[in-house]
Parts: sequence; structure tokens; C-alpha cells
Amino acid sequence: MVKFLVGLATLASIAFADITFNCIGYPAPGNSIGVSINGVITKLAALENTAPVWTGVVPGATSAVQYSYVEINAANTPVKTEAFVRKLNQTTDIATDNEFFDRPITHHVVPRLPYTYLATYPSKSKAFKETQIATLHLTGDKPAIDKLNASPETDGAEVRVNFRFINAKTIYSQRNITLKTSGKSSKEFAKQSYKIKFDTDFNQTFFSRPNLKLRSMATEPTYLREKLYIDTLNAVGVPTQQGSYVRLFINNEPYGLYLMVDDIKKSFAKQTVHGGDDLIIPGSLIQANAPTLSEQADLAYKGPLSAAYGKETYISQNLGNNLVTEPLSQLITLMKDLQDFDPVATPDPLVYWNNRIDLDGFLRNMALEYLFGGFDNYWMAGSNYFIYFNPTLGTSGKWQWLPTDFDGTFGNGAEIDPLGSYKTLYNFTPDHPLVSKLIIKNAAINALFNTIIKEIVSTTFKPEAMNPHIEALNKMISLDAAWDFTLPRKSPGKNPGFTFDDFNNNLVNITKDMSGAIKPWIAARANTTSVELQFTIPAGTADRVPPPPRKGGNGDDDDDASPEGGNASSDGVSVRAVGSVMVVVAMVASSLLLA
Ligand SMILES: *[C@@H]1O[C@H](CO)[C@@H](O)[C@H](O)[C@H]1NC(C)=O
Ligand SMILES: *[C@@H]1O[C@H](CO)[C@@H](O)[C@H](O)[C@H]1NC(C)=O
Ligand SMILES: *[C@@H]1O[C@H](CO)[C@@H](O)[C@H](O)[C@H]1NC(C)=O
Ligand SMILES: *[C@@H]1O[C@H](CO)[C@@H](O)[C@H](O)[C@H]1NC(C)=O
Ligand SMILES: *[C@@H]1O[C@H](CO)[C@@H](O)[C@H](O)[C@H]1NC(C)=O
Ligand SMILES: *[C@@H]1O[C@H](CO)[C@@H](O)[C@H](O)[C@H]1NC(C)=O
Repeated sequence: MVKFLVGLATLASIAFADITFNCIGYPAPGNSIGVSINGVITKLAALENTAPVWTGVVPGATSAVQYSYVEINAANTPVKTEAFVRKLNQTTDIATDNEFFDRPITHHVVPRLPYTYLATYPSKSKAFKETQIATLHLTGDKPAIDKLNASPETDGAEVRVNFRFINAKTIYSQRNITLKTSGKSSKEFAKQSYKIKFDTDFNQTFFSRPNLKLRSMATEPTYLREKLYIDTLNAVGVPTQQGSYVRLFINNEPYGLYLMVDDIKKSFAKQTVHGGDDLIIPGSLIQANAPTLSEQADLAYKGPLSAAYGKETYISQNLGNNLVTEPLSQLITLMKDLQDFDPVATPDPLVYWNNRIDLDGFLRNMALEYLFGGFDNYWMAGSNYFIYFNPTLGTSGKWQWLPTDFDGTFGNGAEIDPLGSYKTLYNFTPDHPLVSKLIIKNAAINALFNTIIKEIVSTTFKPEAMNPHIEALNKMISLDAAWDFTLPRKSPGKNPGFTFDDFNNNLVNITKDMSGAIKPWIAARANTTSVELQFTIPAGTADRVPPPPRKGGNGDDDDDASPEGGNASSDGVSVRAVGSVMVVVAMVASSLLLA
């Protein structure tokens, strides 16, 4: 059988075939996309159910074909030709991937971060591919979308749009989904962030990820801060929003490069915390914010009634075991226990906290807040996290920390000294007692925190591990970032005016509006902690624990291997094998016809 296939493959590699070309393109109105092979142009077509993917078959092209895409005008004259030549990925291919016009690389190579701790991993989903930049093609009522962009702060404003997601192997469409602007301070920017919602009650789905945010990354120039934080959370075993880059177009207008992340709702608990398990009934999920400087989700106890806690400070996203009239009851019990906890006198502090919260998870989160200088999260601002009562932890459930919004890091937002000790960072008004009482003032938990910092810095958060990842991501998004910085924005509001120079330079130098630069920040923090906690950072990029196993999920991650999991999923392998056998057979069939 193996011999037989090898024979066929050899035959196929010299055979003529019909090759299908697929180019994602947004030519000027009236123009089209074509493929140019040895100077001969074949016009491609964008069909109703696949546009903006332009497709066409060129008969008799060999699998060694070299080609470029061209934009052609109504008279079929090229007006723009790609300045590079493309080749098929495999000599057995009879179709190209969906390839974006003028972007030479579709599959990038990004070395992953080494794993410090093992995590349960989210259910499989095609939504987040680490090494591709997908295209999001939305269409909808133009006046309604213009209005949404013109007044992003209008509460509850939303429009219905048709959605199309395109990556190398997938075109996925869904009609009539909800688009909103997203965030709070994000709405003050000229480049808006958005939310996308698929209504599962109406059978709308998107690879098991019905709630998404499109993060504009408008507050910082590298477009890497949030992504690096997410990747590091994954490497230290914290269940988190996944994030991958997408190009956003609405009604054929370019909006720019975005980071598509999970929006944390009930479905997130199911797909990410519980790995897609349908049988688990999610517990209480509370979104915690700081609507003003004095009104923070600090977890300070303010009495037994939900009404005493700011409506915008603690927002129930899933009731769990609470009554509609008292949505915060269970969390209030935790806040009371935190108030009652005496960091010096309470016996068995580790038992006290391990019974109530996922203590390791919380400490890993706080370690990253400190290491990245997250000025707008719990440690420093009492903001930007979710707290989830995970019914599967311990004997009857425990609270689990789910962080969010990581752009305010590495010196974006507030000036934080990367050489400063964490021990100087607790004297806040209001106090953040889950940090001050546990991490700063309790000796046993402090020792645990120090161990966690040491393990993370020794494995993941050190220049040798982070820099290759940073450089590969910077390279991967480079052309799209350059494009993004040239685009007109759609909303009133702030435009910080970052440039492509800032995009590159802020990796190493302090640039406009930033008080830190990413690589020197990591070097300084890693070094500071190793000096303070007296350990030597080992050389190398070895995993401390093996990569996490992938969950079976709904089996919709079948078009390529997961770069995170280390090994290809068995689904991915089998699908690809079937694909190439079919290709070979098709080619042999056509060569038999020729003979
Ligand atoms: C070829 O395709 C495989 C599978 O999709 C992908 O992993 C690889 O990166 C591709 N190589 C190139 C050069 O595009
Ligand atoms: C769009 O979906 C909503 C529910 O999410 C439904 O009420 C409405 O009828 C749908 N509209 C169309 C045109 O399908
Ligand atoms: C959703 O799909 C189910 C099963 O296919 C069907 O019974 C139901 O009517 C659909 N619901 C809507 C709102 O289309
Ligand atoms: C960073 O700043 C130094 C000193 O000003 C300069 O020599 C260097 O070229 C800068 N590097 C980048 C990438 O901006
Ligand atoms: C780390 O910090 C110490 C003390 O501040 C300093 O002497 C040393 O040169 C630093 N090492 C690196 C690699 O930055
Ligand atoms: C990857 O595959 C190798 C060889 O089959 C196996 O030993 C290893 O455990 C796998 N690793 C993971 C993370 O699945």
C-alpha cells in the first residue's frame, strides 16, 4: 500500500492537472482579481457564497506552477501585480490555500512559549489559529453601521450583520449575527473595538465560540502586549481567552488588524474552563470592573446584600446557585471570608484559602500581573477580571480567577518601574485585600507566591524564551500592521498616531506614549526577581511540564495541527492523509485520460 502510494505520488508530481487558485482580495470597485502564470492572466471570480475569495481553475497547470495574483481592471489590464512569486505548498496539491492578496505568507512559523504549568485546555475550535491571520468579512446595513461607529458610546446599540470567516482552509459564513462596539475606555478611540455575538438559541454558532471580541489594540503601538499576555497565561496553566489576529473588513472597507479573543460569557466557562463538557452546569460568573478610580472591584466586604455593591463593579454573567434578586450572594460570602481572614493569626492559611479559591491559579494570575506590569488589573486597579465559581473544583466547587484585558502592560498606561519589587506594590487606596492579605502579609502564601514567580521566570518569562516568540509574532503581523497604520479610522475619538516605526521600535526602545519597551522590560523584571528571590535563571527553553493534552471537543479543529499541543491531533492527521490520497487519485485519473 505504501509502495503503491509512493508510485502514484511520483506519477502525480509530473502530471498536468487543473489547479484551483483561491485569493482573498478587495480590488477597487469594478476591478477583479486574477492569477498570472508565466505572464498569462486568468481572471478569477468572487461568488456570492465565497466572496471576497476569488476562485478559478487554470487547466493544464503543473503542480510546480509559479504564480502571482494581480488586480485587473474592467478591460482586463493589470493595475497591481504582487511583487513576489508563489508556489503550491505540496507537489500533490491541486488547489491553493485561501491566500490574501499581497501577503506572501499564509502559514507562519511561531515558536511557542515553554510551559511552566499544565492546564486543562479549551475545547478544540477552528476559531483561533496561532500561525495564520484570518480575514473577517462582515456585511450589513451601511447607515446602521455608520451610526454605530459615529456614536460608539450609545448603550445597547447593535446591528445585524452577515459574517464570513476565512483562513487558509476554511470559509465559514453565518447570517444575521450581532455586532456592537466593545469596552469602556476602548470606545474613546478612533479605531473601535467590537463584539460579535452568535445567537445559539437561533442555531447560530462559530466553532463553539459564540461570543467574541475584536480588540483594536489602539492604546499601544506593538500590537503584541495583549497577545503575549494571553500566550503566557496559556503557558502557565491559567484558563484564558484565546487570541489570534484577524484582518477586519466591513462592507468591503478595511478596518484594520485586530486581535480576536473570546468574550467571557457562560459559553466561555463551558468551552474553556470545562473543555466543552456539556454535562457540567456552569456556576456563578461575575465580571469585575472599576467604573471609577474609587469604585473598584477590590473584593472588600460591604455587607450581605448585592445592592451594596456597585452595579457596574460586579456584573453577574451567570447566576449559578444565586437568586435573581441576590446575584452576588455566593461572592459576598467569599468577600466576608476575606474580611475575616487574619493574615497573621488564622491557623492553616493555605487550607483556609485552598478550600475557597483555586489558590495556585490566583497566584499565577497575580504573578503575571506583576511581571507584565498590568496597571489596570486586580493587583493595581481592582479591575478587569472575572471570578468564576467552578463547581468541579474541590469537593463542592471553588472560585477561580479569569483575567481579561491585557493591553495596559509593559509600561503602557501607568509608569511602573520594571526594576521594582512586588513587595512595594500594595499600598493602594482602596486596598486590594486578596493581594495585600494573602501575598504580602501572609508568610505561607507569600512563600508559595515566590515559588510561582521563580518557576515562571525560570521557564517562560525570560528573554531566552519570550524573545523568539516576540520576534516571530512581530514578523507575522508586520505587513498587516503597516497596512493598519495607514487606514482612515471610522469613529471620532482619540487617535494616538502610532507609526510603523513605533511598532518595531517599542520592542526595544521607549517610544511615544509608552513608559516601557517590551524586551528590556522582560529582561529587567526577570533579572530583578532572580536577584530579589535569589535564584539563577537556567539557560534553555525546555518545558517544565509537557504541553497540555488537547480535548476532543466537537471535533471541529480538523484542518491543521495545533501548534500549542506539540503533536498533531489525530483528526488533523487523518483528514490530511485522506486529502492527499484523493488528490493523487484525481491526478492519476486525469493523467490516464490524457494517455
Ligand atoms: C503547508 O501546509 C501545511 C498544512 O496546512 C502548513 O502547516 C505549512 O505551514 C504549509 N507550508 C507553507 C510553506 O505554506
Ligand atoms: C435575526 O436573528 C434574530 C434573533 O437573533 C431574529 O429575531 C430575527 O428574526 C433574525 N432576522 C432575520 C432576517 O433572519
Ligand atoms: C435549531 O435546530 C434545531 C435542530 O436542527 C431545530 O429543531 C430548531 O427548530 C432550530 N431552531 C431555530 C430557531 O431555527
Ligand atoms: C533604540 O535606541 C537607540 C538609542 O537611541 C538607537 O541607537 C537604536 O537605533 C534604537 N533602536 C530601534 C530599533 O529603534
Ligand atoms: C541583574 O541585576 C544585577 C543587580 O542590579 C546587575 O548587577 C546585573 O548586571 C543584572 N544582570 C542582567 C543580565 O541584567
Ligand atoms: C507526542 O507524540 C509522541 C510520540 O507519539 C508521544 O510520545 C508524546 O507523548 C506526544 N505528546 C503529546 C503532548 O501528546
